[in-house]
Amino acid sequence: MTVRRSLFALALFAFATPAFAQPKLEPADFLLPDESKMTPFKNRVSVVFVTSNQPEWKALKDFWNEGTQEDADPATGLKVTRKVVKLKVPLGLTQAPVVPTENPMTVEKWVLGKQLYYDKILSTNGHVACATCHAPDKGFADGAKSSTGINNALGPINSPTVFNAAYNRFQFWDGRGSSLEDQAQGPVGNNKEMFGGKSDPWEEAVTRLRANPAYVKAFNTVFGHAPTRDAAAKAVATYERTVLLGNSLDDKANALMRKRVTEEESGKFVLKTEDYAAALKAEFAAKGTALKDIGLDAAKDAGKVNEFGKRILAGRELFFNKARCTNCHTGDTYTDHGFHNIGVGAKNGELPLDEFGRFVRLPTGHKDTALVGAFKTPGTRGLLWTAPYMHSGEDKTLEAVVDFYDRGGNVNAWLSEKMRDTAAETAYVKTRAEGKPVDAGVKTYGPTKKPIIPLKLNLTVQEKADLVLFLKALNGESLDPLVSDPAKFPGK
Ligand code: HEC
Ligand code: HEC
Repeated sequence: MTVRRSLFALALFAFATPAFAQPKLEPADFLLPDESKMTPFKNRVSVVFVTSNQPEWKALKDFWNEGTQEDADPATGLKVTRKVVKLKVPLGLTQAPVVPTENPMTVEKWVLGKQLYYDKILSTNGHVACATCHAPDKGFADGAKSSTGINNALGPINSPTVFNAAYNRFQFWDGRGSSLEDQAQGPVGNNKEMFGGKSDPWEEAVTRLRANPAYVKAFNTVFGHAPTRDAAAKAVATYERTVLLGNSLDDKANALMRKRVTEEESGKFVLKTEDYAAALKAEFAAKGTALKDIGLDAAKDAGKVNEFGKRILAGRELFFNKARCTNCHTGDTYTDHGFHNIGVGAKNGELPLDEFGRFVRLPTGHKDTALVGAFKTPGTRGLLWTAPYMHSGEDKTLEAVVDFYDRGGNVNAWLSEKMRDTAAETAYVKTRAEGKPVDAGVKTYGPTKKPIIPLKLNLTVQEKADLVLFLKALNGESLDPLVSDPAKFPGK
């Protein structure tokens, strides 16, 4: 109690005192909870994830399912039956997102987080919300090459989607955010995003929240204290953790394949055309959105299931093999959580300093030249919603992305080894050492004149089209309106 009182006293003191009179006490950052202000334990509704490999998953009807569970009340040790919300994690996402122990998920916190996410109150001029640049109707991105924030300031970089950001090991293109909670604090202080004030951005934002009785009440019931930066970040992250995208045509074909192989007892868990054809048939029966995604007409094209099944399978084979996409785009969300220089920022073989990406963010003493010009591998679900592509937003279509990879990316001195024809480079060096003529078109770098030769994929026109078709089959189903409709809240 005394700790809390004195923190409040410090808080009031700091607000009443001109900033220059005292060392900054940062009262806006965090406060300690007063349990008596919080919703009692027995009435707190926790939110839990249920994934498709858990037995109860199938029985869950919707994304958001209300139920009950037994818990021990930490204050009394007694068993209580509490309400719980079970989230049906979409097919294809086999793991539940990791939830930090200091930020357990409850429905009240989720509601508060959702309100904050869509509320322009976090911006100085009241014109910008998180949703301005991560809008549900634009795939939780903004559809622009680079984002426009406060006072129409044009940002330098493409807005990544919040879809499945819950699974990211790092946030931001250069990985400078370590968690959703960490990331959520950035935009509020960014003068191209939400901040147009003069003093400390979070002090100003927290002051606005503390002047709003509804927010004061909500923060108290969830966190046991007035609005703070720590609590706002936790609430927003809680909402973002539920922005999950799966249920793609490819996920459905995979599920059907597992069912088929189990029934056949063959033990060969390998996709066949018939699995995609079966998934497509089910899609025609249900008039699913995946048909439109891959360019099929639900009314007319039912006869094309085998042809398209075959082509999507061919695209998948390319993604995993010849086109080497899974060298970096792997796992449930199709990212290795790594950073690679694929040359997006390079022009005419040169990489400008402001395109050094991950390298700049590595702490001094940990600089790794393999990460010069490297950016985070984004996931490849939901691509039909999140154009334009790459951190620069320079590719407007998936066809353009595939053409980019087909030519081996953009040559530069630090192009990832995974993007290079290292055998050709070795041969080049040998030929040159022997004094024989070498290909004049090869770019060389540095005092040793190191050749960099991008690995061309040599995809045919048909292969490119099939690969794009596979990417479209990864798109996935729209989210539950409870998550994607800003006005919708549980029980309303
Ligand atoms: C003016 C536009 C704008 C606003 C407002 C904005 N963002 Fe962003 N957001 C971006 C851009 C641009 C990036 C990428 C920046 C970078 O990587 O350097 C980003 C990155 C992110 C990421 C990282 C995703 C990833 O895959 O790395 C998350 C999560 C995110 N924003 C959530 C939020 C939240 C939450 C808010 C509100 C507190 C918010 N954003 C406000 C434009 C915006
Ligand atoms: C060496 C690792 C690597 C390989 C191989 C690779 N990618 Fe990528 N991919 C990345 C990185 C890193 C980015 C982001 C680059 C940037 O913006 O600077 C990216 C971006 C993308 C994007 C843009 C996504 C978005 O939201 O902006 C798509 C689509 C994509 N890759 C598809 C593919 C396909 C298809 C293949 C195979 C032909 C492939 N990638 C091969 C690492 C890789």
